[in-house]
Amino acid sequence: MDDLLKLVAFEPKNRHRPYVNSAVRFHHQYTAEDRLRSALVAHWNVFQYPSEMVIGDLISDSGTTTPTIEQLSLSLLGDEAYGTNWGYPQIIEAFENAFGISSGDYEIYLFHQGRAAEHALFSELGRDKQGFVVPNNGHFDTTRANIEQNGMRAVDLPVQAVNLLPDTLDYYFQGNMDLKALDALLASDASSVPLVYETITNNTIAGQPVSIANLKAVRALCDKYGKALFFDAARFALNAWFVKRHEPGYAGKSIKEITHEAFRLCDGFTISLKKDSLGNMGGALVVKKTSPLIEAHPALLENIRNHQILTEGHPTYGGLSGREIMILVGGLKIAQDEALIGGYVGLTEKFGAYMDSLGIPVFKPFGGHAIYIDIDEFFKGTRIVREDFGGISLTALLLLSGPRLCELGAFAFGHFDSATGKEVSPPFNRVRCAIPRNKYEEQDLFFIADCIKNLHDRRDSIPRAIPVYGRDAVLRHFKARFELKQ
Ligand code: F0G
Repeated sequence: MDDLLKLVAFEPKNRHRPYVNSAVRFHHQYTAEDRLRSALVAHWNVFQYPSEMVIGDLISDSGTTTPTIEQLSLSLLGDEAYGTNWGYPQIIEAFENAFGISSGDYEIYLFHQGRAAEHALFSELGRDKQGFVVPNNGHFDTTRANIEQNGMRAVDLPVQAVNLLPDTLDYYFQGNMDLKALDALLASDASSVPLVYETITNNTIAGQPVSIANLKAVRALCDKYGKALFFDAARFALNAWFVKRHEPGYAGKSIKEITHEAFRLCDGFTISLKKDSLGNMGGALVVKKTSPLIEAHPALLENIRNHQILTEGHPTYGGLSGREIMILVGGLKIAQDEALIGGYVGLTEKFGAYMDSLGIPVFKPFGGHAIYIDIDEFFKGTRIVREDFGGISLTALLLLSGPRLCELGAFAFGHFDSATGKEVSPPFNRVRCAIPRNKYEEQDLFFIADCIKNLHDRRDSIPRAIPVYGRDAVLRHFKARFELKQ
């Protein structure tokens, strides 16, 4: 264990400010030895590791937002009523405003988070018919799991981005759906596809945005085959921001105008309100009352309503407290503020550029909410191979210096095939540094980059991560236990 402590002993160039968390924490009083003890108790699983020991928590941008003073003030006005609380009409109005939809044409179902909305949609669809195939430009892990747990197949069809030249449209929109692949899938078996999904921005593909041109082309394919189009809209505002910056014809439009244009193309969406909507909790499922989906499944709207009541509570609060609803009302009001999004993306980009300057292999162009480290490149030339889960080792060891990142690669997105006894590796192998909104400043993130660089310099000595529990579990990264071995 002394070897591990030696690996993380170094003098960072930048200092993380104490007490920048939304709650005052005393993380600076812990030593590397304290952290090692806790990491061993957590079996090196970053999700099981106590957050008060973390200095620089980039495990997720989800629900980790520091609410604004206005949001906090609004939360004090939260009405904790069982039926039609004071905030309910306000949150419906906030949805109408943000997405340009009318509650006369859409059912808006509130849930306590995004995956509960996904669960409602896919379990109710799966109840109608088994064996569906759901294409997406990049299913997030919970979306994939909700589809597969309900007897359907989740297919990722991201655009094939190879040898792209910087400053081309394709370079900036690597989150796009592969149109040819989608056309081929629909042509071969349209009856198995209940809806087409696009995730904006594409968290699975390094947080890359999707162009309006791609959304329109996917819409056209959906029309050709009579299919509904749904969005996974967690980072809708970031997506619109990248459209404004890079897609011809959008520079003069507001984030709200671009969002409205995008959402006119879809028949519904699931959304985690814990990201761009600036909530600490919340999600929703929004379904157009007339669409190919509802024509094919006429009872779906009613069945989702029943599902919501069974699992979340009355439709007017949907698993949320009155306080949380008001936080979301305040969040949705400012979610499309250009200066706010620009500041957030600017911070992410400064962090990415600093990592790049330190020689850490990062995915480019940078996503809005996160910087992704290419783990195959990170360990190139060392003895660490995919099956050694180097991304897990890196995130595990970083805990000892303070920062917490999240592996979204060979372990989180791979799986163990018990029939062959072999690991099935995903097409990419990354570690994500996700940036909470309204929380950190440049020097905090630069400190984290310094810690990563230290381990990059010593990558030859980084041990392998051996899963000793949970290798074949669903969403295994949340539950697995590891040992680090040379
Ligand atoms: N869709 C996307 C694109 C997501 O990134 C997430 C969550 C969800 C759906 C599920 O939403 O967490 O509210 O249930 N992403 C988080 C992350 C967990 O760290 O990227 P949820």
